[in-house]
Amino acid sequence: MTFPPMESVHSHSEIFWGDIAKDFFWKTKHAGRFLDYNFDVTKGEIFVKCMEGASTNICYNVLDHNVHERKLGDKVAFYWEGNEPGDELTVTYRELLQRVCQFANVLKSQGVKKGDRVSIYMPMVVELVVAMLACVRIGAVHSIVFAGFSAESLCERILDSQCSLLVTADGFYRGDKLINLKLLADEVPWNPEVDLCWHTLVRGASDECEPEWCESEDPLFILYTSGSTGKPKGVLHTLSGYMLYTALTFKLVFDYQPDDVYWCTADIGWITGHSYITYGPLANGATSVLFEGLPTYPDVSRMWEIVDKYHVTKFYTAPTAIRLLMKYGREPVYKRDSLKVLGTVGEPINPEAWQWYYSVVGEKRCPIVDTFWQTETGGHVLTPLPAATPMKPGSATFPFFGVVPAVLNESGEELEGASEGYLVFKQPWPGVMRTVYGNQQRFETTYFKKFPGYYVTGDGCRRDKDGYYWITGRIDDMLNVSGHLLSTAEVESALAEHEAVAEAAVVGRPHPVKGESLYCFVTLTDGVTYSRTLEAELKKQVREKIGAIATPDFIQNAPGLPKTRSGKIMRRVLRKIACDERDLGDISTLADSSVVEHLFQNRCCVG
Ligand code: PRX
Repeated sequence: MTFPPMESVHSHSEIFWGDIAKDFFWKTKHAGRFLDYNFDVTKGEIFVKCMEGASTNICYNVLDHNVHERKLGDKVAFYWEGNEPGDELTVTYRELLQRVCQFANVLKSQGVKKGDRVSIYMPMVVELVVAMLACVRIGAVHSIVFAGFSAESLCERILDSQCSLLVTADGFYRGDKLINLKLLADEVPWNPEVDLCWHTLVRGASDECEPEWCESEDPLFILYTSGSTGKPKGVLHTLSGYMLYTALTFKLVFDYQPDDVYWCTADIGWITGHSYITYGPLANGATSVLFEGLPTYPDVSRMWEIVDKYHVTKFYTAPTAIRLLMKYGREPVYKRDSLKVLGTVGEPINPEAWQWYYSVVGEKRCPIVDTFWQTETGGHVLTPLPAATPMKPGSATFPFFGVVPAVLNESGEELEGASEGYLVFKQPWPGVMRTVYGNQQRFETTYFKKFPGYYVTGDGCRRDKDGYYWITGRIDDMLNVSGHLLSTAEVESALAEHEAVAEAAVVGRPHPVKGESLYCFVTLTDGVTYSRTLEAELKKQVREKIGAIATPDFIQNAPGLPKTRSGKIMRRVLRKIACDERDLGDISTLADSSVVEHLFQNRCCVG
């Protein structure tokens, strides 16, 4: 890729992105404006359209185009590293293409057509990438559900997106724990009436499959993210803009070079895996590591063994993983000479973790790219460019090309210079989400209503005197546990569904590894007494309703909750109680202040 002058991205986005688009195959070219949009609810429906009139196929671009035009057929697409050391596979671009075509034919033989939704609930195996690209090849829309989610969460997502087929696996090991995915998926071991076996189906399938040419704004995938009302939102991404955006951000943010070996430790079940394990790297013809296991299994030097084994040059992980490994000191971090760029994503990185990553892992020679983005943004939106942007530990630095942030105050006024407030974006970039699947109204209400004319991220931020952006964390009722967003409302309703619970309120409490942990207050129904057994049952209930990531760390019996006179729970006060901070600020609106003292006295110290 060549680059036009930097300012052209704002004034001439067609030229800037048009140049990037030249590296891809288009069945038909786009006509008209590169980006068309309305970000202002007062002016009508919110929409973003990119490269209208163009038709393409992402699977064709990331596989056929790489194999045939770029002559990368023999290049390794993935080094798959299993949970058990020694379990490994190498897949070249040519092999991946064949496998994807076979599975695309299988999907077709099962009646899956363009536009149909396919749910995928799989561990980190090559088949997961094969299944997603096979959907894309035939124009079907994948909806991947992270394999750590519960059967109920899976069910909710399948129903919401009306998926016609579920692709899953029998089970897998995470560390030394067996996860019976198929049992979770339907709680019935095997039903020959509805279940079909991957291997049997693939065996008879042809490894050639014509791609389905799709329009730029046809749906590519749905990925659910927690919503503050408790019901997950199906974030919808479309084809052309997402492809260009993930391709370019990957290339520039990791300073991708053809001989790199790149490793992103995220799970493909999250947006990081979608954009920066599958689409971005494959669009660049990169070689990646696909890791099934855990950073601590069989021991805490596993990550660095993998780095050394595959000579990983670009490494992308989350602050929570860094904090976890930091606990074991520098000794397990041995060979890592191959590393060149280190990335982080998922939550604000605390200075200690940043320093450790930079000094111990990167030996002070690898730039750190702290990438801020969201499921909704599709790709990095605030990020340094390695070695080009002077770093400040803990700051995601500056906007990526074409991204225009602003900091607003409570009244929606743009603040100038050094300031703190709501982080918003003033205009779209190609990779931004297009809607909430099946619920345009929720899309507009969630992201565009609070401040007309802006996309509202839900994050607070500070801009310093040098123009650097510092994310201060969520300003809604979302918690960030190990880099994953959870809605307090969702956990509260899972707790309240238990017959012993009359009311529940959940807040975040800082956690040294996870960032935030879940601190839950429960008011029991009359006549029920609190016990350890009940506590264990409540934890299990949340795990079964949502998934292991949402398991409460602390549950406190709360005979009364701090409420305003109009009956609203004062979470601000609960957060203080969870952290044992006595400076409660103004509590004059509190209906009954004795409740607070009682909760302070009975707070949980250990989970
Ligand atoms: O609060 C921000 C935080 O993660 C949220 C997005 O979560 P999700 O959609 O699950 O996507 C995570 C992976 C892209 C954001 O609203 N976040 C993500 N990256 C950073 C971050 N906070 C601070 N710094 C980051 N680098």
